[in-house]
Amino acid sequence: MKKILVTGSLGQIGSELVTHMRKIYGDSNVIATDIKVPENNEVVNGGPFEALDVLDANKMAEVAKKHNVDTIIHLAALLSAVAEAKPVLAWQINMGGLFNALEVARELNCKFFTPSSIGAFGCDTPKDNTPQDTIQRPGTMYGVTKVSGELLCDYYFKKFGVDTRGVRFPGLISYVAPPGGGTTDYAVDIYYKALQEGKYTSFIGEGTYMDMMYMPDALNAIVTLLEADPSKLKHRNAFNITAMSFEPSQIAEEIKKHIPEFKMSYDVDPIRQAIADSWPNSIDCTAAREEWGFNAKYDLPSMSKDMLDKLKIKLQIK
Ligand code: SER
Repeated sequence: MKKILVTGSLGQIGSELVTHMRKIYGDSNVIATDIKVPENNEVVNGGPFEALDVLDANKMAEVAKKHNVDTIIHLAALLSAVAEAKPVLAWQINMGGLFNALEVARELNCKFFTPSSIGAFGCDTPKDNTPQDTIQRPGTMYGVTKVSGELLCDYYFKKFGVDTRGVRFPGLISYVAPPGGGTTDYAVDIYYKALQEGKYTSFIGEGTYMDMMYMPDALNAIVTLLEADPSKLKHRNAFNITAMSFEPSQIAEEIKKHIPEFKMSYDVDPIRQAIADSWPNSIDCTAAREEWGFNAKYDLPSMSKDMLDKLKIKLQIK
């Protein structure tokens, strides 16, 4: 990987992945792109940046050729709750953007990474220790685009030899960029509100388990999988990975260890609750561990401590 193009680089993952990869591969070798072009932004100012709408196939190919890229990390997509509210747009962006990016990868013979999600599973999937290879009949537009994306990436590998790789991310938690429109967002919002207001009203109900991961582990996973020896990969799109599984009252208890007066209440949003109910409680990541050495460092206590420490600085709370 010498020249890496990242789409959706100002989103939740991209905002940190670009900086992380620039440190490893060199600032000038990670070309960040996004539909937005904000000023005073680390990703925009820290290395090459191009304005790019992923639905503009010609521009995507032009940018990739201009920078002579050999790797594409395609992150631009709508998350689950937004996709459920705007299913037509979600299909257009999630599938249209992916198709355009895969076509560029095919033409330029690029290595390719795109994230799938625990949202690629549905109500018929075994809920506990969800296997790598299992039933995938999601009931959301987000899930439909994620399963279709996994299949399309496998097709590009088998048919055209494009070196596609992917993971099924759980809910990702970070203090840098907000997720914006996901079902697992409560597990990010709760830390902000705990510090700012000492209380949080969860839109996901007590007892709803979902898989989660702290962003540093997610960034490591992307780099490790992209660097993995292809001869060891039996799977490609996409590997189950997770770091922890918890339900809202458990994260609240963890926060109380740091902020004893913290109060949790519930006002369940039926749409996001139904999405969460259709997803696994916890997924099995044996294939990722065996085939490319996936490993997560943070659990709920260590993540909570780091989130609260970092957010205190970010929000200037004493
Ligand atoms: N975090 C995502 C969401 O909630 C799941 O991939 O939409």
